[in-house]
Amino acid sequence: MKVSAEIQRVAQDVRDLVAWMQEEGVDTWKMLAPVPIEPLQVPAQAETKTDIRPSGPLSLEQVRAEMGDCQRCPLALGRTNLVFGVGNPNADLMFVGEGPGADEDLQGEPFVGKAGQLLTKMIGAMGLSRDQVYIANIVKCRPPNNRNPAPDEITTCRPFLDLQIAAIAPKVICALGKFSAQTLLNTQTRISDLRGQFHDWNGLKVLPTFHPAYLLRNPSEKKRVWEDLQLIMAELGLALPGKK
Ligand code: URA
Repeated sequence: MKVSAEIQRVAQDVRDLVAWMQEEGVDTWKMLAPVPIEPLQVPAQAETKTDIRPSGPLSLEQVRAEMGDCQRCPLALGRTNLVFGVGNPNADLMFVGEGPGADEDLQGEPFVGKAGQLLTKMIGAMGLSRDQVYIANIVKCRPPNNRNPAPDEITTCRPFLDLQIAAIAPKVICALGKFSAQTLLNTQTRISDLRGQFHDWNGLKVLPTFHPAYLLRNPSEKKRVWEDLQLIMAELGLALPGKK
């Protein structure tokens, strides 16, 4: 066959070459021994200043800048102000409500209406001030007539809440009301079954409790919310009333 004839020819050439080299006194075994390979000298990696990967989570300012004059969902059409969030960017405790109401829309700050005033009292009862915690909502623009945000509005806004949470890295998130709790924990479980205990969300502790607006309509439930807030206080090592 053509190929094997070629191979035989090359083999014969090699044999002839080796025989000739041996006649000439060349040590062919030495020649065939593997050549020692010097280890490759890889220069130490110089520190690069052009690495554009973010070194950590975005800051709250960067998240706000990313939202810009957000027109990503229809809620933008009816808003006066985008209500981003307020408070301590390094807070251990973050409250997450549902979405801005009329007062919040006008002032551009979450929880400043009647329900917000009750939330401020709840925070005070924990021995904290609004400046020490961070307050935000699931959606940043007021749904018309205070309706619940639609699923596509939540899906569009959710990444910004997640970025806020990543920026703040709180120890505990208090989810205010059914809507916030069910959205954050991605569950349909009732708020009355979710509240009263911590839930894990991506390694973060989430404690759902009733929404302050619900408490305004059902003041007898304040007792249970106070129990929930005390769970958070214990988790954060805050002084509980009557205990030193
Ligand atoms: N209710 C909410 O859920 N958020 C606010 O900011 C105000 C009222």
